[in-house]
Amino acid sequence: MREDNALESRVRARLAELRAQGLLRSLRPPAGIDLSSNDYLCLSTHPAVVGAFAAGLARGAGSTGSRLLRGDRDVFADLERRFAAFKRTERALFFSSGYLANIAVLTTLPEAGDVIFSDECNHASLIDGIRLSRATRVVFPHNDVDGLARLMESTPCTGTRFVVIESLYSMEGNRAPLAQLSAVCRSRRAALIIDEAHAVGLFGERGSGLVEDAGISDDVLVSINTAGKALGVGGALVAGPAWAVEYLVQRARPFVFSTAAPPAMASAIAASLDVVRDEPFRRERLQTLAQYLRRRLQSCGLDVRDDTSQIVPVHVGDNEAAVAIAQALQADGFDVRAIRPPTVPAGTARLRVSVNTGLDEETLDRFTDRLVHALKEAGVCSAASS
Ligand SMILES: Cc1ncc(COP(=O)(O)O)c(C=O)c1O
Repeated sequence: MREDNALESRVRARLAELRAQGLLRSLRPPAGIDLSSNDYLCLSTHPAVVGAFAAGLARGAGSTGSRLLRGDRDVFADLERRFAAFKRTERALFFSSGYLANIAVLTTLPEAGDVIFSDECNHASLIDGIRLSRATRVVFPHNDVDGLARLMESTPCTGTRFVVIESLYSMEGNRAPLAQLSAVCRSRRAALIIDEAHAVGLFGERGSGLVEDAGISDDVLVSINTAGKALGVGGALVAGPAWAVEYLVQRARPFVFSTAAPPAMASAIAASLDVVRDEPFRRERLQTLAQYLRRRLQSCGLDVRDDTSQIVPVHVGDNEAAVAIAQALQADGFDVRAIRPPTVPAGTARLRVSVNTGLDEETLDRFTDRLVHALKEAGVCSAASS
């Protein structure tokens, strides 16, 4: 490239700004003990899931087209039927990622004249979908049910009101007040859209998610359920009434204009659903380990919220300090990652510690000791008083 290339200069300046702000990321494959992935139940390496993926490959690697052209397969429809029964909805639709599923739902169901009320902690894929939709966007304070109700009263709407939330927030590790939010939606005839990315496979008696756990299935328009986290594979399923799912098939651009996922993914996800059904002890063990870690961190004076979720954010604040602490822990053999803006708001950089069933109490004890040490070394002593 020529040296006077204005675009290159601009991009280099942007990269330099990111470096100066402590926001430059680097790619780093897994190394050390997993305390950062979303493979909460360790299903990505479960023999039944891996075996189903391998067996699925016998029919070819790629789907070779969009579902509406030559990319459709019986294995997709089988998975969708099964997943709809799992979520107790009429239908489900498989997408090649949760990001695309969220874009699909939010750019297809809400239209101009509608208003989307969005929790301020929503994931980027929800935010991007809402931004791409033609509806008006109103952001409400995190988990603030009364604030949402007030905004619904004061915001004019000629069409449909939508409320978009996560059931378990990916960076906060806390739950949405589902019963109260669904009551607000019911009383104002708003359509509730719930991203169950970090809950599906983990919560509820059958492991179908927090919607099941809260008993609000009838109040939810659609849920988005990623299969790349607790289910250990990839892709996502949108579950809801037949009319909404059929409309996504007809009109959702990420469905219509994208090559279908490799069919073997669907075979593997079906195997994950078998494991969720047959091995409930995995999700029980996960909760036990998550509670253990939270108690250990609290006993060391860390400001860790009481919750039962598997996501345990450790707040640091400063971007560079968060990276330094993550690196110190990585050097000790713990794969912990720093989460910085724009993933989280400025000034709230953190370590997003996530628990999985491959861990044990002794490892969590060792991790707690090293974490407290690293926080002190980095001068983040307010978080660690002992
Ligand atoms: C809450 C939430 N929704 C959606 C997604 C996107 O899912 P996927 O990784 O399958 O694209 C993520 C991914 O991190 C997420 O945390």
